[in-house]
Amino acid sequence: MCSSHNQLVPKVATIKKITEETSSGDVKTFYVEFDKPEERAEFKNMPGQCAMISVLGVGESMISITSSPTRPDPLEFSIKKMGKVTSKLHDMSVGSKIGIRGPYGNNFPVDEWRGKDLVFIGGGIGLAPLRSVINYCIDKKENYGSISIIYGSRSPADLCFKEELFDNWPNLEGVEVHLTVDKVEEGERWDKSVGFVPQYLEQISPSPNNSIAITCGPPIMIKYVLESLEKMKFEDEQIITTLELKMQCGVGYCGRCNIGDKYVCIDGPVFSYKQIKEMPQEF
Ligand SMILES: Cc1cc2nc3c(=O)[nH]c(=O)nc-3n(C[C@H](O)[C@H](O)[C@H](O)COP(=O)(O)OP(=O)(O)OC[C@H]3O[C@@H](n4cnc5c(N)ncnc54)[C@H](O)[C@@H]3O)c2cc1C
Ligand code: FES
Repeated sequence: MCSSHNQLVPKVATIKKITEETSSGDVKTFYVEFDKPEERAEFKNMPGQCAMISVLGVGESMISITSSPTRPDPLEFSIKKMGKVTSKLHDMSVGSKIGIRGPYGNNFPVDEWRGKDLVFIGGGIGLAPLRSVINYCIDKKENYGSISIIYGSRSPADLCFKEELFDNWPNLEGVEVHLTVDKVEEGERWDKSVGFVPQYLEQISPSPNNSIAITCGPPIMIKYVLESLEKMKFEDEQIITTLELKMQCGVGYCGRCNIGDKYVCIDGPVFSYKQIKEMPQEF
């Protein structure tokens, strides 16, 4: 339950920069700073956590913090245009004010992963929460083994975070990036894989030995990625995912996001496959 009503009060922040991730413009990354530096100091986030982003007079949406706490300022949120709040955010410009409350939820168990090889499997905007933990593990690379990033989108134009995918991550020692797209239009340049993420994962076939697989993406992709990982002999405890249920309060108050006795906003959004299998399966 909510420990303090202060948790529900949005803090004012200013948009400092906006970048378009996809060529259709449906995903934008917002770089934001709290107006009061002391409020930034109080906002202590870990990879995998989220925040409620509010637009005055419109409403609030839960959004993953895509920047790593190892690179604290500005805070970054990558947002797909879906409905009223996210569309209004997409209409905003540098200098616009938004509200932020959080950070909410649990985080990826990065301390438990020390010494392990990490396999990140993402699809579409699902790379947003993974990007935070990928950059966190890269910045603390001495704690981890190899890092593999397997990522797919509908088309080359829909890949998010292109600079990191093509220029930054593949040039780092011990980091591999594998990219695939569902389809390529005639005349479009693409020299990497074509096909769905789960099949591509099986082709790459990372070893389950001393590994952790972390996945986030559209529900249908996650479903088949989990099946592929099982086929590849990953144990349930070695598989971690994040759930995106509709949320309202974000602090275990409204009952909007419960699955059985779990509230995704406070017990999640990060769960192991073992925990997911123990939940009622109607969600
Ligand atoms: C833990 C968590 C982390 C998230 N992280 C991100 C992120 O990093 N970037 C991002 O772009 N989005 C993220 N989302 C999804 C985001 O919260 C919703 O897309 C957003 O709230 C939609 O708000 P809206 O007012 O624009 O749309 P609405 O007008 O409320 O809805 C528009 C459409 O989107 C659907 N929708 C609304 N919420 C969700 C949801 N949670 N899941 C699936 N469909 C939904 C509605 O059913 C409707 O069809 C996250 C959600 C959760 C719960
Ligand atoms: S969003 Fe209100 S209880 Fe989780």
